[in-house]
Amino acid sequence: MNRQTKRTDTDTKSLGLGSSGKCSTGTGTAAFTFTKKHFGFLFLLLPLVVIGVLIPAYITLKHGRSISNPTSIHLKPPSKSESSEQYLYYFSYAGWSNQLIGLYRAAQLASSTNRTLIVPPILSHHTANDMGNARGGNTRLRCGPDHLDMVKLDAKECLKSPDESSHVKFSEIINMAKLSEAINVPFTDLCEFVKEKPALVKRYFHQMEQMKPEQRTIDLGGTCTLDHRRSYADMVEHFESIFANDAVAIIPSAFILGNENSETKNFKQNVFRYPPSSNLSEFIRILRDRLPTNYIGVHLRYRDDAEYSEYDEYRFKCSENKTEVLDMIRRGHLAMIEKNEATANSTPSVFFASSSQEALSCYKQFLSDVGVQAFSLNDLLGQEKNSTRKFLSAIKASKSTIYLTLDQILVSLGQQVVLLSKRTGHERNIPSSFQTVTKTRHEHLNNSSSLY
Ligand SMILES: *[C@@H]1O[C@H](CO)[C@@H](O)[C@H](O)[C@H]1NC(C)=O
Ligand SMILES: *[C@@H]1O[C@H](CO)[C@@H](O)[C@H](O)[C@H]1NC(C)=O
Ligand SMILES: *[C@@H]1O[C@H](CO)[C@@H](O)[C@H](O)[C@H]1NC(C)=O
Ligand SMILES: *[C@@H]1O[C@H](CO)[C@@H](O)[C@H](O)[C@H]1NC(C)=O
Ligand SMILES: *[C@@H]1O[C@H](CO)[C@@H](O)[C@H](O)[C@H]1NC(C)=O
Ligand SMILES: *[C@@H]1O[C@H](CO)[C@@H](O)[C@H](O)[C@H]1NC(C)=O
Repeated sequence: MNRQTKRTDTDTKSLGLGSSGKCSTGTGTAAFTFTKKHFGFLFLLLPLVVIGVLIPAYITLKHGRSISNPTSIHLKPPSKSESSEQYLYYFSYAGWSNQLIGLYRAAQLASSTNRTLIVPPILSHHTANDMGNARGGNTRLRCGPDHLDMVKLDAKECLKSPDESSHVKFSEIINMAKLSEAINVPFTDLCEFVKEKPALVKRYFHQMEQMKPEQRTIDLGGTCTLDHRRSYADMVEHFESIFANDAVAIIPSAFILGNENSETKNFKQNVFRYPPSSNLSEFIRILRDRLPTNYIGVHLRYRDDAEYSEYDEYRFKCSENKTEVLDMIRRGHLAMIEKNEATANSTPSVFFASSSQEALSCYKQFLSDVGVQAFSLNDLLGQEKNSTRKFLSAIKASKSTIYLTLDQILVSLGQQVVLLSKRTGHERNIPSSFQTVTKTRHEHLNNSSSLY
């Protein structure tokens, strides 16, 4: 079941709300008001417990059957929400690859809780001062309650006319119908939801003041308030204890729900190797045809501030030792020859992408000097500008998101890939999410006919 319908967005570069960093609300006392309201909540819950547990138990006993498995009695009362559809929405932020991680973790939770995932807008990957981290992600955004301000703005954006709204649907980039089928989770785009379910939108997206304190700052994974991570099963149970009766559950960051279960790999793989939207697929096909038949996909990741850091040691320098990268490319070329002897006499070709534009031009020069044919996205787009312009305007996402996606997919389509993170400091050991996505796509290349 998929309710993605046709596109109505505008072509805009905006990340949407222009509000990264804004985080003040009057809800700082949530932790203190909890206990008082909690009692009220229990009183409300009591009759529901009577209806939900005692009455069915009574009926069961009266009909002479014993309760063989007491653990199967859930506190979930048979309220209206059991017969009608339930939804999940989450706070999305950070760069494109991190937004994909958020999507996969939210989809997994939606699956476990039998909810339709309301898909947030794609946030522009790059704005001038956030280094690709749309909206940032301070603690009050990641853990609540400040995410609710953003969520409210997301919903408001949908009320604007398509020409004025900065809302960008995931379906501009991803074939959401196919993805939905692959992971068996129903999706609805936020703006479709706003259009189709005004009553729910009013209650859950506009009148949020009524939201219970424990819903505003729900700590599903445990990373916000606990000193341990919850297991996946505990996380789902915690979720249900707080949202079971709500038609719409709105959670803070899905990105930080790092808990694994047996389904995780499946969700991760399917989302990372998403089938591109039809317009994007067509675009990729044209660009792929402009590359040699056999090439190596190369991506070099630098610090986000490699181009403008005030600290000299953080900035990219073309004088850096490039031997390591060249060696990796040569090994990749040898591996390619092993698989396909026809490539033996050819000079190695690479499709080169990097988080640093400076590194890109520096390496392209270096590689061509040592006899490696190097292409970057700009070279491919540059040819026949007219035909690529057509696609750029047909896909209603920011250019930064489109370029990043094209880089990611074209690197992954290489016969071999070379992925290297040259970050420093604490980032050194954090896997780059761009490269994780790229690697996953590449590993599933042999089924590429279905990829685009
Ligand atoms: C999942 O939700 C649907 C309604 O959206 C309901 O019909 C179905 O019974 C639920 N399944 C489970 C396993 O709870
Ligand atoms: C460059 O790095 C390689 C290893 O990647 C090393 O063997 C070589 O000595 C380095 N060259 C210079 C000039 O530092
Ligand atoms: C490209 O587009 C411009 C105007 O949009 C047009 O004048 C020109 O003829 C086109 N070139 C080709 C090769 O189609
Ligand atoms: C592709 O772009 C065209 C032209 O803008 C648009 O009419 C069409 O709906 C797009 N297709 C999809 C699947 O988004
Ligand atoms: C590729 O497709 C085949 C047949 O559809 C399937 O059996 C196999 O698991 C797929 N491989 C990967 C890596 O997804
Ligand atoms: C296809 O994918 C499978 C699973 O990832 C892998 O084991 C196999 O080596 C791949 N085959 C080719 C020809 O790349």
